[in-house]
Amino acid sequence: MNTPFRTIWTTEDRYVEVIDQRQLPHEFVTVRLETYEDAEEAIKEMIVRGAPLIGATAAYGIYLAVREMVEEQLNGSFLDQAFSDLRASRPTAVNLFWALDKMRDALDNSSGDFIETAWNAAAAIVEEDVETCRMIGVHGLTLIEEIAQRKKGDVVNILTHCNAGMLGCVEWGTVTSPIYQAQQKGIKVHVWVDETRPRNQGSNLTAYELTRHNVPHTLIVDNAGGHLMQHGMVDMVIVGTDRTTRQGDVANKIGTYLKALAANDNNIPFYVALPSTTLDMSINNGLTEIPIEERNQDEVRYMIGKGKNGKIQPVLICPETTPASNFGFDVTPARLVTKIITERGICGASEAGLLNLFPEFK
Ligand code: MRU
Repeated sequence: MNTPFRTIWTTEDRYVEVIDQRQLPHEFVTVRLETYEDAEEAIKEMIVRGAPLIGATAAYGIYLAVREMVEEQLNGSFLDQAFSDLRASRPTAVNLFWALDKMRDALDNSSGDFIETAWNAAAAIVEEDVETCRMIGVHGLTLIEEIAQRKKGDVVNILTHCNAGMLGCVEWGTVTSPIYQAQQKGIKVHVWVDETRPRNQGSNLTAYELTRHNVPHTLIVDNAGGHLMQHGMVDMVIVGTDRTTRQGDVANKIGTYLKALAANDNNIPFYVALPSTTLDMSINNGLTEIPIEERNQDEVRYMIGKGKNGKIQPVLICPETTPASNFGFDVTPARLVTKIITERGICGASEAGLLNLFPEFK
């Protein structure tokens, strides 16, 4: 990689900093989190986003709550409130609940120094994500290599939706890890970047990080993917996930399902990069059991960008009174997923496939 950076880090005085992703790609602004409410706001307002990073931020949110509770001699109800506020910050990405459960377990089993326990547990979640994403890259790389060989070294065209890159994680990313590792190996790759309305995580974030890593890419409007697939311009699709069920149904950014349908119609492999922290083995049916976030309609009614005056500003793109619907995610049924790429290897999108790699969930 070029200049590796992380999306969340700690300071010398043991607070937490993150990148304000709402300002990218125009400004690189960092935000300091000193309280659990700061972490909660960072998640709610999408200063940070992406399933693994939401989990990591929530974990540090609990650390900040524990620190405040001990230093200010508050009672345990303060920490309970922190857990419940953070749990309510975003509904779909299951990493949030996974990370909070891990923090609860660590604190329940603490030998006494709660601040240190929470600090170490949050740091472990962050380090685990880095290694998980690296390994998703190791396995996903083999899929890109196969296509490169078949194409006799010609460019492998990969389509992705939203941002399941390092900006959604801590380092590497899930979707981007195989891409970065392929590039490091000298395989020629090119990425079709869906702009990903309404918040444009593709144009704002994926394009930004691919630019930083010198990965050739082209921005496309969300509806272009089908056309590109019909004309042989896409070799594979790789997307991220916010929650994957026991049967392999995948919730990801709204619009993912339509890409899966188009890929299926054109016999193009559709892969999901899945850290096991995004598995929700307690549910089976993605369509009925995964809570789908609904966000403020103004995210659809307005576009945010940098004006010619150099200012980042919202622009109304419909009549003042037109209402909008804003579902944040959709579910791609397992039958449309060619394979799932995990940190332990590649498997079918099915209970049997997942249990083969993760027998601890039997
Ligand atoms: O609303 P967002 O930006 O949090 O949605 C992010 C996605 O849909 C990602 O694809 C997913 O969280 C995976 S990030 C590795």
